Amino acid sequence: MYSIAGYKLSKSYHDGDQHIQVLRDCEIEVPEAQMLCITGQSGCGKSTLLHILGLLDTPDSGEIQIAGRLVSAKDSAAPVIRNRELGFVFQFHYLVEDLNARENVALPLIIAGQNSSSAMRKAVDLLCLLGLKDRLLRYPNQLSGGEQQRVALARALINEPKLVLADEPTGNLDPGHSSEVWQMIKTLNQERGQTFVIVTHDLQWTGLAHSTYQLHQGKLQPIS
Ligand SMILES: Nc1ncnc2c1ncn2[C@@H]1O[C@H](COP(=O)(O)OP(=O)(O)OP(=O)(O)O)[C@@H](O)[C@H]1O
Ligand SMILES: [Mg+2]
Repeated sequence: MYSIAGYKLSKSYHDGDQHIQVLRDCEIEVPEAQMLCITGQSGCGKSTLLHILGLLDTPDSGEIQIAGRLVSAKDSAAPVIRNRELGFVFQFHYLVEDLNARENVALPLIIAGQNSSSAMRKAVDLLCLLGLKDRLLRYPNQLSGGEQQRVALARALINEPKLVLADEPTGNLDPGHSSEVWQMIKTLNQERGQTFVIVTHDLQWTGLAHSTYQLHQGKLQPIS
């Protein structure tokens, strides 16, 4: 369905007089319907890379291709691509505090123009699938970290995006829920052909992916 690639991506940050080179001519190619995992030490640049791939940030240099098209976070089409075609699971959730779990998950569908009652029904189905049947009307500050993480995952999956970018989607989950989320991702990948790029430290599950890379000194190196 949908491929994503980054070519010669470089990104640095300036912090006072410190220059931090995070990505150095980093290359990544994820063919459609593949599942690729990225691991690496804290601070090595995994979230930075994922934000660039998800058109949430721009690289200093390099190119992003989504489904064979050259795209940039600065393009006027970027918000539409993000809403319709990409699902992004943030490392730190970013749920809307004033909306309950069901409303948070329904939001991307409503933004995309669906009527709110059918959006809410779909949100409930997905939240039930993720084991949150009894949490539908709770606000983010009434949910545990792992529950918020599953709501954030549901929000990223609700509009059946062709490409899902997930930043440590199981980082706050116990082994049981973590296993359920990994199995669900694998099923979506196999049955719907959705493409996944997943940042994770869960090395016991990366065997489900087609390939796993380590981000080290600004570049991806295959580890399986
Ligand atoms: N806005 C910013 N300004 C300055 N430095 C930044 C900024 N964002 C990230 N950094 C630095 O860039 C580096 C990469 O950060 P990033 O969040 O991509 O790491 P990460 O691999 O996702 O880490 P973690 O596993 O802890 O989530 C870190 O050294 C971080 O301190
Ligand atoms: Mg990170």
